[in-house]
Amino acid sequence: MEFTVAIDGPAASGKGTIARAIAAEFGFAHLDTGLLYRAVAMKGGDPVGAAKSLNADDLARDDLRSLAAGEAASRVAVLPEVRAALVAFQREFAQRAGGAVLDGRDIGTVICPEAEVKLFVTASPETRAERRWQETGTGSYEEVLEQVRTRDARDMDRADAPLRPAEDAVLLDTSDLSIDEAVARAREVVAARLAR
Ligand code: DC
Repeated sequence: MEFTVAIDGPAASGKGTIARAIAAEFGFAHLDTGLLYRAVAMKGGDPVGAAKSLNADDLARDDLRSLAAGEAASRVAVLPEVRAALVAFQREFAQRAGGAVLDGRDIGTVICPEAEVKLFVTASPETRAERRWQETGTGSYEEVLEQVRTRDARDMDRADAPLRPAEDAVLLDTSDLSIDEAVARAREVVAARLAR
């Protein structure tokens, strides 16, 4: 069975947590596509060459989850040639038998416009900055809020595959939801589509 769940949203919206939970619940494979951009950025050198030659070792680095890697990823992600080099891998992943969940910024709009389920997960910048700040314990809340706003602007304003909801995406604002509540909402959407 081919069944793709596309989950997009800004940094620290909760999309990764939701994606992992949905994958575990329904037995789907999960790809955090942000890791691809993070790995390209951390590989150093020419980002287009890095994207074309990305391998499993690059994705296994233990520094990919840092704030610095996220910031650097957002910068290389504006380059159309970097994005193009990563498309085929993501589409193949999405089509694997048994179902797949991909989370990122352009999954429902560019990578898998035919996905069976599309979710757009958001939360206010203040809520996301608070979560990031609690999670990392570095810098001040104001600094983290500034970083969140800068990253949002870069991801939303780029010309190629900007962050935006697909027209048929289900919007899920997690600002006032617990993780369990957000996952439950996502689960309902997936279960309803599977039952069709
Ligand atoms: O989801 P994340 O924070 O790991 O993503 C890091 C950066 O990678 C994000 O700011 C923009 C880029 N990205 C992207 O452009 N497209 C994706 N599908 C996933 C991430």
